[in-house]
Amino acid sequence: MTVLEASGATDTSPGMRSSPDRNPAGRRVALGNEDMSVGESIDAVDGPARDGTGALEARSMSQVSAPLYATPHVVTRLDQCVFYHSVDLPRSGAVKGTWDLRAGVDRYLGGVSFVGKRVLEIGPATGYLTFHMERAGAEVVAIELSEAFGWDYVPQVDALTPEVLRKRQLGMDRLRNGFWLAHAEFGSSAQVHYGSAYSIPAELGSFDIAVIGCVLLHCRDPLKVVENCARVARTLVIVDRRWPDLEGGPTCRLVPTRENGIWDTWWDLSSSLLTQFLAVLGFSDATVSFHEQEKLHAMVPLFTVVASRPSSASKTSC
Ligand SMILES: C[S@@+](CC[C@H](N)C(=O)[O-])C[C@H]1O[C@@H](n2cnc3c(N)ncnc32)[C@H](O)[C@@H]1O
Repeated sequence: MTVLEASGATDTSPGMRSSPDRNPAGRRVALGNEDMSVGESIDAVDGPARDGTGALEARSMSQVSAPLYATPHVVTRLDQCVFYHSVDLPRSGAVKGTWDLRAGVDRYLGGVSFVGKRVLEIGPATGYLTFHMERAGAEVVAIELSEAFGWDYVPQVDALTPEVLRKRQLGMDRLRNGFWLAHAEFGSSAQVHYGSAYSIPAELGSFDIAVIGCVLLHCRDPLKVVENCARVARTLVIVDRRWPDLEGGPTCRLVPTRENGIWDTWWDLSSSLLTQFLAVLGFSDATVSFHEQEKLHAMVPLFTVVASRPSSASKTSC
């Protein structure tokens, strides 16, 4: 396992609370890309995923030891939580998160109906989408990163210090706390599998819809995640950042450079790249919509792809 030397990590490192988003040239600009790493110190968690090189190798270990579904964590205090999403909690009231999807959630989710649907949600963070889809009539199973899998870190040699990793781990713990606090307050029945979308257990079964909201940009192998979801779901809803200079062709851009030090994000993706790959997988009925959502009081451009296999009825009629 690679161990990186500590070198003056601060909370302004990419991926931390004040981390930057990027303009098309890859330079840091004002908005944070990931804002869920807030918190004080905790003990570092040993494991192969910690150095950014072993996330995939950690799968089998995690699968052997992790239960299929997590027992709900009992979290009662807001100060134990970090919220990725703004949410109106039944008991605790309005909580401010990094992203406020409340006004645009239907556009975020591509306008699909969740009534009576079994939904696989990849990466719920604090679960705004989870509880929204549940309220809309879905049975939701979420896959969230476990400690064993950890984040799919870019192995930035200088930026990804043990201190940064330690704070990130604490932030992820608090993020999971936020999910469970909201889960309890909403009386949710959503189930969570702690693991990774790189390895979806067959025991989770099959789904009507898989939702992959702003996860692919953080994955070294985003197409593997799409392929895994396509194996188990009939319709995929994929949301990601929209970069106007990439739209129009099946393109992507590697985000991390030595200069920008970014370690939590891998790719800027175009919607065409996803629709082309989805068609390869047989999900050739695809619609793409563009929208903006609020992040830290600014509007951020996103796209949503909704893709399905052509129905057998339309195959017959051809
Ligand atoms: C940027 S947040 C998006 C939250 C939510 N899906 C949304 O669209 O608002 C990314 C989420 O994906 C999770 N995540 C990242 N990589 C993952 C992976 N390989 N498998 C499962 N979840 C992952 C993160 O822990 C986090 O909860």
